[in-house]
Amino acid sequence: MALLRLDIADVRNIESASLSPALGLNLLFGENGSGKTSVLESIYLLGRGKSFRSAQAQRVIRFDQACLTVSGRVGQSGNHTVVGVQLGRSEKQIRIGGRSCESSAELIRLLPVVLIQPASVSLLDGPPRLRRQMLDWGMFHVEHDYLDLLRRFSRALDQRNTALRSYARSSDLEIWSGEVARWGTMIAEARAAYVDRIRGHFRDIAVMLLGAGDAELIVRQGWKAGGSYADALASSVSADTRQGYTEAGPHKGDLSILIGGRPARDYLSRGQLKLLTYALLLAQLRRLDDDIPGQACLLADDIASELDLRNQEKLLDLLKSTGIQSFITFSGKAYAPGAAHDAAMFHVEHGRILAQE
Ligand SMILES: Nc1ncnc2c1ncn2[C@@H]1O[C@H](COP(=O)(O)OP(=O)(O)O)[C@@H](O)[C@H]1O
Ligand SMILES: [Mg+2]
Repeated sequence: MALLRLDIADVRNIESASLSPALGLNLLFGENGSGKTSVLESIYLLGRGKSFRSAQAQRVIRFDQACLTVSGRVGQSGNHTVVGVQLGRSEKQIRIGGRSCESSAELIRLLPVVLIQPASVSLLDGPPRLRRQMLDWGMFHVEHDYLDLLRRFSRALDQRNTALRSYARSSDLEIWSGEVARWGTMIAEARAAYVDRIRGHFRDIAVMLLGAGDAELIVRQGWKAGGSYADALASSVSADTRQGYTEAGPHKGDLSILIGGRPARDYLSRGQLKLLTYALLLAQLRRLDDDIPGQACLLADDIASELDLRNQEKLLDLLKSTGIQSFITFSGKAYAPGAAHDAAMFHVEHGRILAQE
């Protein structure tokens, strides 16, 4: 699976533009404000059903227009699916293979996109929620029941919290604690198994980009290590009752990123943190590519502002060797000289996309 064709209408400054990408590297060049990030935003819309720059559709829709449309062909040549997303100010329509879809889940499954942009470093130094979301996205793609598991856990957690706040609660609390423990344990186990499977890629890429042979990923399950989740819930009933919500569990879980046994966020330079962010997101992509070769798609915005030339070369070499479909933007003309080799090149200018020979 890959993005074989992209049509954009009324996204930011792009009135109408099309792109027939290569299966491997696609490099997009253009001045500031030409529309490069908007092209990535369009692909992301197609793969996630929402923008990464704004939660308000109105900001993404071209000025004075009622809606935006992004559509594309996803698959292999000769066997593709037509997908489309239309966003109005308050409504969203998703179409897959001529059918209307209620949720974004199917879309997300069809075109798994990973975005790396300057703000991605918050994955390392930002709140745990971002790392949980990252893990959840990755697991959603490799474990088909994962979304269902998350929903069951979250429903049980809501019920337990309600029981904690009500007077006649003892039997309800017991029932819902049991459900929370059951689904919560499964989520924690699934997360640990997933991290086991991206760890090797993460270490390899960290060695390549940072020369760090001691990079490590550790899953924090969200309750005291060594004991079961059921026990942790039982021992925190009075504290939870005082607070009115459940303190421990995978909803408080996290992923620690260590270098030499120390939290990377506390010791690494800003530049090193960025490289480690790349390592983490690329490890996820490679994991996905192991499972379903050729399906994952990387969007990397403005890499020249993040990586020096040597690291740009390393990154592009890695992407070339894995064959992961990638869309990479460069401002102006600053880019790794070797990048153009074997890559499709596009010039973005005033919201237009021009393929370069
Ligand atoms: N809703 C909108 N309607 C029209 N133009 C917009 C909208 N939002 C942003 N823009 C303009 O779109 C242009 C392209 O932005 P962007 O894709 O971020 O450029 P680049 O990444 O190439 O620097 C900018 O000049 C910006 O002012
Ligand atoms: Mg940009």
